[in-house]
Amino acid sequence: IKRIALLTGGGDCPGLNAVIRAITRTAILQYGYEVFGYKFGYRGLYNNDLTPLTLESVSGILHRGGTILYSSNKDNLFDYTVEENGIKVKRDVSDVGVENLKKAEIDALVVIGGDGTLTSARDFARKGVNVIGVPKTIDNDLACTDVTFGFNTAIDIATEGLDRLHTTAESHHRIMILEVMGRTAGWIALQSGIAGSADVILIPEIPYDINKIVEKVKEREKRGKLFSIIVVAEGAKPKNGDVVVQKIVEDSPDPIRLGGIGNKLAADLEKLIPTHEVRNTVLGHLQRGGNTCTYDRILSTRYGVKAVQLIAEGKFGNMVALKGNKITYASLENVIGKIKNVSVDDELIEVARKIGTSFGD
Ligand code: F6P
Repeated sequence: IKRIALLTGGGDCPGLNAVIRAITRTAILQYGYEVFGYKFGYRGLYNNDLTPLTLESVSGILHRGGTILYSSNKDNLFDYTVEENGIKVKRDVSDVGVENLKKAEIDALVVIGGDGTLTSARDFARKGVNVIGVPKTIDNDLACTDVTFGFNTAIDIATEGLDRLHTTAESHHRIMILEVMGRTAGWIALQSGIAGSADVILIPEIPYDINKIVEKVKEREKRGKLFSIIVVAEGAKPKNGDVVVQKIVEDSPDPIRLGGIGNKLAADLEKLIPTHEVRNTVLGHLQRGGNTCTYDRILSTRYGVKAVQLIAEGKFGNMVALKGNKITYASLENVIGKIKNVSVDDELIEVARKIGTSFGD
């Protein structure tokens, strides 16, 4: 191995720069490899948009969110949009990617991304490319690893959001909703909900009954608590296929749009509890921006170092992973297509229930 390249794909995530820095420094300092980065993820691989990464170019980026390599969402060279005779068509252009790697004499490719980006990484591995994956997503929903980098920064921000909503909720005796990210998995809502002492936590894995939320608010009222805090994951849904939410889902080009469920919940609760004003805050992309938290800086650095070690050992086709307190790795074949959901009997759910938190069920 002489030259390696990396790319960042999918939505940005705090810790990407920390991974890029750790890979570059380890590769140069420990193994004497040359390091390159493809800009804008797989699009850069297709366009041969390659930039050298040096100790200097990765200096000062450890704490910074975003990615110095830029990222593109949903660019998949196995199903890529190209223009032929002025018409946009989908083509498998993965061979162009393989050729470009050969031309640039890249011996190994590190792909830093979530489920979509790592699916292509697996497919490139199947084509014989020396690939290593690094698990990225604030949603923490990738299989085969206990934690993805970016998640802890996201829950810190969501927890601060809940703390801030508490003081304003209390002052106005309002019901305050915080909608957090999590299309299919409720990890952010669950963990920030516990840390930020939400009264109600709504996650995709536990469909909610609006009447149970009303009950919770009324029960608090009886105890003299005239405000309530609800954290809802963007992918949470009411029981028995509520028609309004179904409509939001159908009308949306994406499965569920940010703001959809939080606004719907606010409107429903205002009708059912006319004594209280309800407000919804969509935390949105604030969860992905800004500086990376301490935990993610360390985890990303550990992932980056391990990724280079796997290259040196020739253990390709794997994704670095965290199991318990140990950094290890898992085959990309086992990672893909298996979203890691919150299990309904997760210890954290039990803990939250024991202290009186409602899941709206
Ligand atoms: O996958 C991470 C995620 O944060 C999801 O929870 C959310 O649905 C999505 O990204 C939003 O991404 P975009 O930037 O494309 O709107």
